[in-house]
Amino acid sequence: MPIQTTISIAGRPAADATLLAVPYTADLDPDVSGLPVPARDLLALHKAKAEPGEVVETPVARGGGVGRVLLYGTGDAGPDALRKAGAAVVRRAKGHESVSVTLPAAGPVAAFAEGALLGAYTFRIGEQRGKAVGRVEFVAADPGAVADDVRAGELVARSVAIARDLANTPASVKTPAWLAERAVEHTADQGVTVRVWSPQELRESGFGGILAVGQGSASPPRFIELSYRPEGGDDGRHVVLVGKGITFDSGGLSLKPTANMKSQKTDMAGGATVIAVLSALRRRGVRARVTGLVAAAENMPSGTAQRPSDVITQYGGRTVEVLNTDAEGRLVLADALAYADAVLAPDAVIDVATLTGAINVALGPSHAGLYSSDEELARSLIAAGEDSGDRMWRMPLIDDYRPALESPIADLANVESGTTYGAGSITAALFLREFTGGRPWAHLDIAGTGRSVVDEGLFTKGATGFGVRALLRWLDS
Ligand code: BES
Ligand code: MN
Ligand code: ZN
Repeated sequence: MPIQTTISIAGRPAADATLLAVPYTADLDPDVSGLPVPARDLLALHKAKAEPGEVVETPVARGGGVGRVLLYGTGDAGPDALRKAGAAVVRRAKGHESVSVTLPAAGPVAAFAEGALLGAYTFRIGEQRGKAVGRVEFVAADPGAVADDVRAGELVARSVAIARDLANTPASVKTPAWLAERAVEHTADQGVTVRVWSPQELRESGFGGILAVGQGSASPPRFIELSYRPEGGDDGRHVVLVGKGITFDSGGLSLKPTANMKSQKTDMAGGATVIAVLSALRRRGVRARVTGLVAAAENMPSGTAQRPSDVITQYGGRTVEVLNTDAEGRLVLADALAYADAVLAPDAVIDVATLTGAINVALGPSHAGLYSSDEELARSLIAAGEDSGDRMWRMPLIDDYRPALESPIADLANVESGTTYGAGSITAALFLREFTGGRPWAHLDIAGTGRSVVDEGLFTKGATGFGVRALLRWLDS
C-alpha cells in the first residue's frame, strides 16, 4: 500500500492542531509558547544535544488546557541530518491524526520532507494497527518559498514507497506477469511506454537466460521494457537501467536452506527500483532518455526446472554452463545487458541487483557494492549516493579472478567450480561485465542494502527501496 500520510504547507499551525513539532539547534532555542520552564532548562533536563533524530516531548499550556509539543534536533542541518530528523518526528507522531511541523530554520527542506514521509511508511496486509500519522502539515514563514522543495521530497519518498511495496508483496501474489502489470500501472501518463515480452517472444529472440531461470515455475517469465522520453526531446543522453526481477528465489534445484530462503521474495528489489525510478522521471523533469529493463522470472525447482550442468544460450549467442541454479540473477541480467548493448546502444548502463550474499558479508546493510568499468560513472554515482542517502562503496573488478568463470564445455560457467578465488560478489560482477559490450557500465549489488532488519529512522523492516533516491539524483545531472 502506498504511504497513506498526506502533506500540506501552511504559514502557521492550524488553530485546531493538537500536536506541534518545533526544531531546535545547539544555539537556537525552540520557538514555543506555553512551555512549563525555559526551553534551555527543559532541553538540559533531557540531556538533549540537538542531534538529528532526537525528539523531546513536552506538555504546553494552550487555550486554557494542555497541549503537546515535540522538540526536535536538527544536527548539522545537512541532508542526512534533516532526513533523519523528519523521520523521527513523524515516527513520534504515530497514532495521531495529524501533526503540524515547523520546518527547520536552515538546510534542505526536500530532505526533511522526504525523511518525514519515509518515516511514515508501513506495509501491512490486513488490519492497519498502530497506524502512521494521517496528515503532516509543514509550517514555514513563507509557504510559497518552500512548496517546490516539499513536493520534490514528497515525490522521492512516494517513489521509494512504490519500490518497497513491490518488494514487500508476497511472492504468491507477485508473479512475473503481475510485476509487468504493476510496471504499466505505475508509469501510466508519465511519458513512458511499456513493452512486456511474453515467453513466446523471448524464445523467438533468444533470451535463453530468462527462459532457463523461469522454466521451473508455474508462473512464466516476462521481460519488461520501459521507455521514457522527456517532453520536448532529450538532452542527448540515453541511459539504460537494468533490474534483477526474481519474484522468488528458492535457489532452483540448487535449493537454498530454509533460513536463507525466507527473505527471497525481495529478490526483485532491483527491478522494483527500476520501475519506481521510471514512474518518477517526468515529474522530476529528467531530460535524459531512459530505458528501464526488468528481467522477471521465478526461480523454482520442479520437473521442468533447469539442472545444474545444463548449458544455456544467452541473448546474443554466448553459451553458459549452469553449475549452480542459485546463481540465477546473473543469467537473467546477462540477457538484459546483452540486449541493451546490441539493440539500445546506450551511453551508459546501470544494473541494480540483489546479486550475492557475499556483498552483505563484505559491506553489511549501509553501503551497496558498486562496480564500474568507467571512472566518471563510478564517481558520479558515489556522489549521487552520498547526496541522496543511498550510499555505495566502490568494489574492484579483479581481472586475475576471471579464470573462475571458465568452463571446459561452454563460453562461460555461471559460478566458479572449485574454490580458488572466493570473492563471490566480484566474480558475479565479472560475469555481468562479459555482456556489457565494453559500454560504460555500473553494477550495484544491493543484496545487503535492499532489506532492513530493523524498524528505525527511514526504514521499516523489509524492503528499503535502495537505489531509487540515488538514481533519481544521478539522473538530474
Ligand atoms: N538472491 C541471491 C542473493 C541474496 C542472498 C540476496 C541473500 C539477498 C539476500 C542470489 O541469487 C544467490 O543465490 N546468490 C548466491 C550465489 C552463489 C550460488 C554463487 C549466493 O550469494 O550464495
Ligand atoms: Mn539465487
Ligand atoms: Zn537471486
